[in-house]
Amino acid sequence: MTHKINKLQSTTGNQQPEIADPKPPRILVVDDDEQIRRLLGRMLDREGYAFTLAADGTEARKCLESQAFDLVLCDVNMPGESGIDLAGYIGSHYDNTALIMITGVDDPNVAQSAIDAGTYGYIIKPFNPNEVMINIRNVLRRRELEIANRKYRESLEQMVEERTVQLREAMEGIIRAMSLTIESRDPYTSGHQQRAARLVRAMAREMGFSREQTQGVYLGGMIHDIGKISVPAEILCKPGRLSDIEFSLIRLHPRIGYDILKEIEFPWPIAEMVYQHHERMDGSGYPRGLSGEDILLEARILGIADVVEAMSSRRPYRSALGVDSALAEISENSGKLYDPDAVKACLKLFRQKGFTFDQ
Ligand SMILES: [Fe+2]
Repeated sequence: MTHKINKLQSTTGNQQPEIADPKPPRILVVDDDEQIRRLLGRMLDREGYAFTLAADGTEARKCLESQAFDLVLCDVNMPGESGIDLAGYIGSHYDNTALIMITGVDDPNVAQSAIDAGTYGYIIKPFNPNEVMINIRNVLRRRELEIANRKYRESLEQMVEERTVQLREAMEGIIRAMSLTIESRDPYTSGHQQRAARLVRAMAREMGFSREQTQGVYLGGMIHDIGKISVPAEILCKPGRLSDIEFSLIRLHPRIGYDILKEIEFPWPIAEMVYQHHERMDGSGYPRGLSGEDILLEARILGIADVVEAMSSRRPYRSALGVDSALAEISENSGKLYDPDAVKACLKLFRQKGFTFDQ
């Protein structure tokens, strides 16, 4: 049997409920028994609540669509959709609406299903009107606290997110500044780190790194030669061949870079990337002679980007060898000096995807 929605009253009565909200809480009563509906309506009216009556799940859904309710008082056994199913629907669609089951079904299993569906209370008919009212007040109070808690949590989360973005931007700015500082001493390699960083970022993307990991590799690339700060500028800029001592000074830069960065708690292994960027797959690199997978993957791809950029650019002691020579070098030594997957990604970028250092 279909019942019409019977709006007995939806305005405030004389007596205000104990809720701080200036507007009276709005309550939806869903029960197929008209007498019970009317009785609950009168009780709510006396207490000053705004309310709407619905005879079944279908009417209840229409009411919920047309206006917001703070609380639903719901029967369990009704023609059509059961109160438990309706409770589940309300729980998943209306975050701010609380629910109390009022039912003749005195069965702990049904009560448990109602609780599982997210109801705040379970009242068994025949009910005591005072008990119903006390339950309603408690539930509305609980709901208010929950909404306030949720809003507070959301605002905290948003604040944390904003601060994290600010910190991230500040950290990236500092890394850029460090990068420019090192390169300002060494005009010949000026821009080397930025260009190598752009290549290493593209390689990381090509190799399926996560966005987060890719950003770490990029920033590592930006400061991978930071240890050169301790190498005298005249050695860095020396046009001729380096002596053994000069070369051994240059070879210290990964370790010095590591020492500069190791105390900074980056969310990525940047200090290790810097430390390992001259290591080679066969153990012939420096400073520690690491080999194979003992070398961090990030450092393996950074090492390739470093070589390719360096060979493609002019140096004080030679003119640019060009990208083709650089690509020939890494493909000839793929697996021996360089990680084969990273070599493959680098070749694909230049030969198929049109990567250039000037983009
Ligand atoms: Fe280096």
